[in-house]
Amino acid sequence: MARKSPEQLRSHRWFGESDMRGFGHHSRIAQMGYSRADYQGKPVIAIVNTWSDINQCHAHFRQRADEVRRGVLQAGGFPLEMPALALAEVFQKPTTMMYRNLLAMETEELLRSYPVDGCVLMGGCDKTTPAMLMGALSMNLPAIFMPAGPMLAGHWRDQILGSGSDVWKYWAEKRAGNLTDEQWRGIEEGIARSPGTCMTMGTASTMTSAAEAMGFTLPGASSIPAADSRHGRMAAETGRRIVDMVWEDVKPRDIATAGAIDNAITTILALGGSTNSVVHMVAVARRAGIPLTIDRFDELSRRTPLVANLRPAGRYLMEDFFYAGGLRALLAGIADLLALSERTVNGRTLGENIAGAEVFNGDVILPRERALVAKDSLAVLRGNLAPNGAVIKPAAAEPHLLRHTGPAVVFADYNDMAARIDDPALPATKDSVIVLQNAGPLGAPGMPEWGQLPIPKKLLAEGVRDMVRISDARMSGTSYGACVLHVAPESFVGGPLAFVRDGDLIELDVPARRLELKVSEDELARRRAAWTKPAPRFARGFGAMYQQHITQADQGCDFDFLEGTAPTPDPEIH
Ligand code: FES
Repeated sequence: MARKSPEQLRSHRWFGESDMRGFGHHSRIAQMGYSRADYQGKPVIAIVNTWSDINQCHAHFRQRADEVRRGVLQAGGFPLEMPALALAEVFQKPTTMMYRNLLAMETEELLRSYPVDGCVLMGGCDKTTPAMLMGALSMNLPAIFMPAGPMLAGHWRDQILGSGSDVWKYWAEKRAGNLTDEQWRGIEEGIARSPGTCMTMGTASTMTSAAEAMGFTLPGASSIPAADSRHGRMAAETGRRIVDMVWEDVKPRDIATAGAIDNAITTILALGGSTNSVVHMVAVARRAGIPLTIDRFDELSRRTPLVANLRPAGRYLMEDFFYAGGLRALLAGIADLLALSERTVNGRTLGENIAGAEVFNGDVILPRERALVAKDSLAVLRGNLAPNGAVIKPAAAEPHLLRHTGPAVVFADYNDMAARIDDPALPATKDSVIVLQNAGPLGAPGMPEWGQLPIPKKLLAEGVRDMVRISDARMSGTSYGACVLHVAPESFVGGPLAFVRDGDLIELDVPARRLELKVSEDELARRRAAWTKPAPRFARGFGAMYQQHITQADQGCDFDFLEGTAPTPDPEIH
């Protein structure tokens, strides 16, 4: 393999000259205590770190950045840590999704505007993974992803607790009057015990696993718990590897081919991964110039078994998954469904990276013949209620609801829902279809994870634990239920969801992939004509840019001007 010469390094444009222009760069690096021997002729590696005091899942990233730095130095590179927007799920409002593209832009422009030859992307908390991959794909400099790793399993009394999933479960019990305040606080204190991302198969582990299957991490990296000493060693190894990737000029778009994207989607389906990944993978693929549509998820789901027995679809947590062999072992079991010759960041193929991986616990990583579901773990629906598509995770729903027709109970927005959902007079039965409008990319704004709409309290008391629920929102990957999500176009822009009224019959037929509003075309046309477009949410700032350029869920919710691979010139060095 041809290797770059030091003069071919991008950073050479900053540091290769001793003229007036170079003076500023050399003298200011010297200001930080570095001499020329520290950096000259060496690849400059940006350690793009999404650590922040507010990001609980990345609390270990200061130490990990040092471990990455150690690896870079050992391999003869020059590491520079560059902080980037933290996107802390739970704390950031209205939703981290609103800021995913901002981190993508920041990642891309950090790499472009500074003397960087390659980068380590440190992320993991939900949106950080797709955001950083999107930015790195657009910049297309050698990049390797270092996943934050899942946190340790939660505990309360003799119960094992899973992030998110058990919150919803116990909250329903609390609302039904089955838990005391003290018990609720015990759950609160026991559910998140260490640094690291949610340890159910939520969006974080879905996307870090997808990044690994796509070829962007060292083999096995995404399954290692954040608190495990192997995680620190993986960080140092990641630092060592990126230096060689620069010399070998292995770039993100060499990795993210159509075959690699299919590998990522197949992996997500085999894991029972988060529905959020549908939006993220479309955006990631399009940054690589691959015209992925949501229908590819449906196509691949028809042949992919769900073999990871992980919550919310299954029983175990990411720590168990790691001890059972982790992602490599899972992928080895479905190798016939993968494009094994796809190249990965370590210079080997996916097939080489998973060869010989063993399953050590067949109840966590199931054999194909005992798959949780044989196929269709995720489905894309269409119909007059979702002309551009909607998504459901049938594996997380009560089976009897997958073919269901019922009358709508409609909420105009989140506040309306919060005010009325527990009203004893709400005209809802277990057969009703709960509808939430104005919860999409523009309407909410930011397409929050509201999609697991609450079951009305009076029905909870009757023992109802699942109902058909429909919205243009997303749903946390840790959630479950017969929730139809990502309805496109969204109601805020005049999608048909905006025209649903109380009592309208809605038909959900997952086997037929259908979502129909049983209202005549004439009546729908009348309602459309009477509809007024809501006022824009923002008059200035990032929100104004967001609302002008955000695409709909089926298009990946990227900014329209960031999609594709049209070249952006490198800056002039003056
Ligand atoms: Fe960070 Fe769930 S809150 S991954």
